[in-house]
Formats: sequence, C-alpha cells, structure tokens
Amino acid sequence: MNVRELLNAKAEAALEAAGCQPGTAAIVGPATRPEFGDYQANGALGAAKRMKINPRELAQRAVDAMPLHGIATCSVTGPGFISFTLADTFLGEVLAEDAGIAPAGAGQRIVIDYSHPNLAKEMHVGHLRSTIIGDALARTLEALGYEVTRQNHVGDWGTGFGMLVAHLRDMDQGDGGDQEQLADLERFYQEARRRFADDTAFAERARDVVTMLQQGDPTVRDIWRRYIDISMSHCQEVYDLLGVSLRPEHVRGESAYNDDLETVVNELDEAGLITEDDGALCVFLDEFRGRDGKVTPVIVRKSDGAFLYHSTDLAAVRYRVGALHAKRVLYIVDARQGLHFRQLFAVCRAVGYEGDASLEHHAVGLMQGPGGRPFATRHGNVLRLTDLLDESVQRARHVVADKSPHLSSTEREDVARVVGIGAIKYADLSKNRTSDYVFDWQAMLSFDGNTAPYLQYAYARIQSLFRRGGVNPASLTGTPTVDTPEEHVLALTLARRQETLEQVAAQAMPHFLCAWLYDLASAFMRFYENCPVLEEGPARNSRLLLCRSTADGIRTGLGLLGIETVERM
Ligand code: ARG
Repeated sequence: MNVRELLNAKAEAALEAAGCQPGTAAIVGPATRPEFGDYQANGALGAAKRMKINPRELAQRAVDAMPLHGIATCSVTGPGFISFTLADTFLGEVLAEDAGIAPAGAGQRIVIDYSHPNLAKEMHVGHLRSTIIGDALARTLEALGYEVTRQNHVGDWGTGFGMLVAHLRDMDQGDGGDQEQLADLERFYQEARRRFADDTAFAERARDVVTMLQQGDPTVRDIWRRYIDISMSHCQEVYDLLGVSLRPEHVRGESAYNDDLETVVNELDEAGLITEDDGALCVFLDEFRGRDGKVTPVIVRKSDGAFLYHSTDLAAVRYRVGALHAKRVLYIVDARQGLHFRQLFAVCRAVGYEGDASLEHHAVGLMQGPGGRPFATRHGNVLRLTDLLDESVQRARHVVADKSPHLSSTEREDVARVVGIGAIKYADLSKNRTSDYVFDWQAMLSFDGNTAPYLQYAYARIQSLFRRGGVNPASLTGTPTVDTPEEHVLALTLARRQETLEQVAAQAMPHFLCAWLYDLASAFMRFYENCPVLEEGPARNSRLLLCRSTADGIRTGLGLLGIETVERM
C-alpha cells in the first residue's frame, strides 16, 4: 500500500472541504522534523496565500474535516502544516496485509538504455555507474509491474572498427586463434592503434576495411562479427561477476540501426527539417544557439555519406517508441552527454518520433579515483572493471576473516564475494545519481553507516536471531501489535516501502531506496536494543513478525539493487 498517496488523498479532500480548489497539492511526505509527526502536508500554505487568509486557520479547518481512519493524531504545526501521526493499529494492519510490492506499473512498457560500453575497448570503470544504476532501475520497475525492456546500446560501429578488423585479419591464421588474440582487448586495441599511426600501408587497408564493412563485404563482416562477439563476451563476464541482469539478448548496438538510417534521413526531410550545409545534412533548431548566437546544428549525415551518433540515436527512438511501444525511454548516460540528448529529444519531437512517450536523459555523474583524481592504474592506464571487482573481493576477504572467524572457509569465500561486490554497487547506488563522487574503499567496506555490509549484517543478524530462538519465520502468523516508540518507527518505515519504490521509478533515482534501507536497518537496530524479542510473553510473536518484515524488506530491497544477502556472517 502507498501510505503517502492515501494520506495525500485525505489531505486533498479535507482542504477542499475547507474551501480550497480541488486538487490543491497537499504534498504529504515524511515529516521534516519529529515534532511534525510521521507525515506532513504543506498544501495549506500556498492555498491560504492565494485565498488571502491565515494559513494556520485554513489548516485547522482542514484538520477539522479530516477523515481520521488510520490516524492517531492530526494537527496544525509550524506556519500551517498539517501533521499526521499514524495509528499503531493501522500500521500493524498494513504490515499484516502486506502482499508484497503493489503493481503500480500496470504493464506499461519502459525501455532502459544502460551500460552501453564501446566494444572497441575493454570495459572500464567509466561504464560502471550506468551499468549498476540502470540495472537497479530495471529490477525496481519490473517489481512494480512495468514491462521493462533492457537495451544495451553498445558502440559496435564506426570508423574505429576499421583498424581493429584489419589488425585482426592480419593476426588471424585461420586457426581460430582470435579468441587468444583478443584475450587482452586493451593490448589489442593499443597495437592496432600503433600500427595505424606508424604504418601507412596498414592505415590504408584499415580505411578500405571501413568501406567494405559499410558495403557489407561478407568476409570483412565476418571478422567484424567475431571481434564484436568476443568483445561482448568479455562484457558478459563482467555482468555475471557484478550480478547485473543484462544478457546477450538485450544487446541492440548501434549497428542494428544501419538499415534504418536512410529512412530516418528521408523522414526528417519530409518533415522539412533537413538543411544541406557544405554537403552535410543538418537539422537546425532555433533553441540550440551557442554563445556566439549561432545555431549548433544536429548533423545527421556527413558530406562523405557517413552517419553519426545522432543518426543512430534517432533511429533508436523511432524503434523504441514505434516498434516497442515504449511509454518512457530512460537513458542512463554520462551527464556530459546532456546536450546530445537535449538535441536528440528536440529533433524527435519535431519529426514526431516522440509520440506520446516520455524521453528522459537521467544523467550520471563521474566516479572519481581516490583523492578525486581520474580513475587509473599505477601506470596511468584506465582501470579494467574486472581488476576493480577482484580487488574489492580481495579486500572483503580480509574484513570477513577478521569479523567472522567462525565461518567455514567456503562460507567465508562466499560472504567475501557477496560483500565485496555488494559494497562497490551500493556505494555507487547510495549516492545521488547526478553528482560526482570519490571512490573510497574504507567507507564502502565499513560495517557502520549507509553501506552494503551494514545492511547485509543487519539481515544476517535477524536470521541468527531466528536460529537462536528456534523460530521458522515462514510459519509465523498474526498481526503485529505496534506498541513502543521503537516499534512505531520500525513499522512506519516498513510501511513506507511502496511509496519509496514509486519515487525511485518516477525519478529514476535508486538512492531513495538506499536511504530507505538505511532507515529501516537503523530503526531495526534501535528496536532490537530496546525491545526484547525472544523473551517469552505476549509481545514475542508480534516482535518476531516485525523481525521477519524487516528481514524481508532488506533482502528484497537489496535484491532490487542487484545486491545479494547471506544467511550468516
Ligand atoms: N556508447 C556510448 C558511449 O560510450 C553511450 C551510448 C548511450 N546511449 C545512447 N543511446 N546514446 O559514450
């Protein structure tokens, strides 16, 4: 149940009864201060201003008209807020009736464009954020009942592939040794680049290869395909290691749109949007003026006939809205591509590709290396993702050996993997997606604070409590009786899950879910310290139910972020 929505509806109705226009935004959200109760509505402030009356008086009239079912207290606070405290019995019922996440999405199709590495090179840390954030969103939206289509818009086309394919053709002895050649993609790429720079005959061949590739020469296409497949299998290894739900069938790279590019240009032309400029086909939109006052064009075809990044993206929108019937398309992409997407969406609007869909660039900030420097190895090379993940598991091994000496070595190894991978993902997800952040091993692997290990530990602690009490959580029944202040806060936090997930979905911001998880684990710890759970007595069953809901909440919540839990730590 979405408690926020429920209260919002009550507050809206009450404000209307108090003389406000229907739909006066009540903005019922978690109260900003404890003295304002559990939830707080600010709608009376703006309405009173418009009506030229005292906001506290208006709020009081709304309070007098408030239907009180489920509410323990409702009062005017501050300059004219309406404050709510939920009834303990109501909270107990919400938890008892909780049938999991409600399907708010109702089957609506959402396309998520994420990860999208450039296949010319090894996947590196720069791809981590989009991959992790996009995956958390895909899982959360799916859980909410949306029809999610993952699209891995990989860079698998363009002139850069000429030298790679030419180099691979030279290296390949026809013995299928390319798997080996491409074992280290970064080295292969550097070799090809060196040859391209130093060897004019090779550079010539590489350019020919580009033409042959574009014209569909079968042999060259074959080698290109092998290159792409191998490069993609490297990415898949990283996805599997990371626990990311991307599969080969989600790949729909730039090359997939080759055959549509002519059509796109024709459709833009029919819409009267194309201007020829020095042989290049451009779209000039008035809203994109540079500092010099001149319009920055969107180039869809260069004078030599080559298509560009924009052309492919136009074709992709056409496909996603036209063929996949997406109602929202979420681009989880580096903030530095902001202009590209503003232009893309504007052209899509002008040509009609947008339809009734919402095209959204959800910008991702940078992950910076320790000390705020660019992420690199000691030798100044880009850091490969697999190396970063290996290091995290390695570090987690030390932490686990220290914290959990009682575990068997196989168990410890599994915990190290779950903690090491979880820590990296959670550190990223818990930050506001749009800000840059500094990578910090110490903080992410800490068992204190808003970290994966803290949550994983809280979960394991509840499981150990069940074991100690000889309790099978699945067989617990009944309605929790919420009584103490700690129980109230814990039950209230649990009841906020649905509204939190819907907020994550609406704003494409997984850190709201992390904040909720942290609130939940913290509320649990305070409850656990103040309310004996296993003690025989009337509260035992109720408290065990709260423990079970908390454990479910942490496991499910982390699961939506693509992070595992373990039963003991
Ligand atoms: N491959 C691109 C890059 O590495 C990102 C693609 C983002 N998605 C898109 N539809 N443009 O920069």
